[in-house]
Amino acid sequence: MKLKDKVGIITGATSGMGEAIAKTFAKEGVQLILSGRNVERGQSLEKQLSNAVFVPGDITDPTYNKQLVDTAINIYGKLDILSLNAGVLGLGNVEELPIEAWHSTLNTNLSSIFYTSKHALPHLQKSEHGNILINASIAAFKSFPNHPAYCASKAGAVALMKQMAVEYAPKVRVNAMCPGPVDTPLLWESAKAFENPEKAVANAEKATLLKRLGTPMDIAKLALFLVSEDSSWITGTTITIDGGIINT
Ligand SMILES: NC(=O)c1ccc[n+]([C@@H]2O[C@H](COP(=O)([O-])OP(=O)(O)OC[C@H]3O[C@@H](n4cnc5c(N)ncnc54)[C@H](O)[C@@H]3O)[C@@H](O)[C@H]2O)c1
Repeated sequence: MKLKDKVGIITGATSGMGEAIAKTFAKEGVQLILSGRNVERGQSLEKQLSNAVFVPGDITDPTYNKQLVDTAINIYGKLDILSLNAGVLGLGNVEELPIEAWHSTLNTNLSSIFYTSKHALPHLQKSEHGNILINASIAAFKSFPNHPAYCASKAGAVALMKQMAVEYAPKVRVNAMCPGPVDTPLLWESAKAFENPEKAVANAEKATLLKRLGTPMDIAKLALFLVSEDSSWITGTTITIDGGIINT
């Protein structure tokens, strides 16, 4: 096991990549706090993993972020890893996107990273293995129509990652994954920004150099690498995992 007896919080754990990361980390020995909004899916995942506790809530609420950290400390007595995956899209061009949707997208995709990290960092600095891993997106570097809040929030997440890496080295490593199109509910939601969503997903698949969509497990394997000792000399960086689509 690569992460035996480590303690981690995973946000966005009830679906897509967060769920795959939770399953992968649990197999590698991490004792988990699972964060998500969907109580049914969260409780079901908690049952499947023997070493996990589901704490339901809204990641845009700073008090919920504190609750996640407090729960980890109360139950396991320490905290080693944050894997931050919660994300929403906020679709519509700048003229159409309601101001409320702008704020909720920024709050979910960016401010929540600040909230969780803020409460977790005092504990992560005490760990021999302090790690923050942010799930950003190629949207941090490449623009997509009708995703203004999403692109801005992901670019912000990458900037925050780099800032925290500088501030908290060498105690805590901070990195970000930047996925391309991965087959999750969010990808299909994102495709609604295009006239023909099915065609948009098929086009994205064709546009990857490797001619397939990513799977949640592709991302979970990278997440495992980035929080394990295998990447012990990596901090303050983004790894693009996108089948090569950023080059097209
Ligand atoms: N799927 C893709 O193609 C893709 C590509 C690049 C980056 N990403 C990023 O990967 C991350 C995971 O997304 P996914 O594709 O697995 O999609 P997903 O929709 O399966 O997962 C997103 C999770 O975030 C949770 N979430 C959203 N708002 C929340 C809130 N206010 N409080 C608590 N939880 C909340 C959702 O409930 C969901 O479980 C996201 O940050 C997304 O932006 C996805």
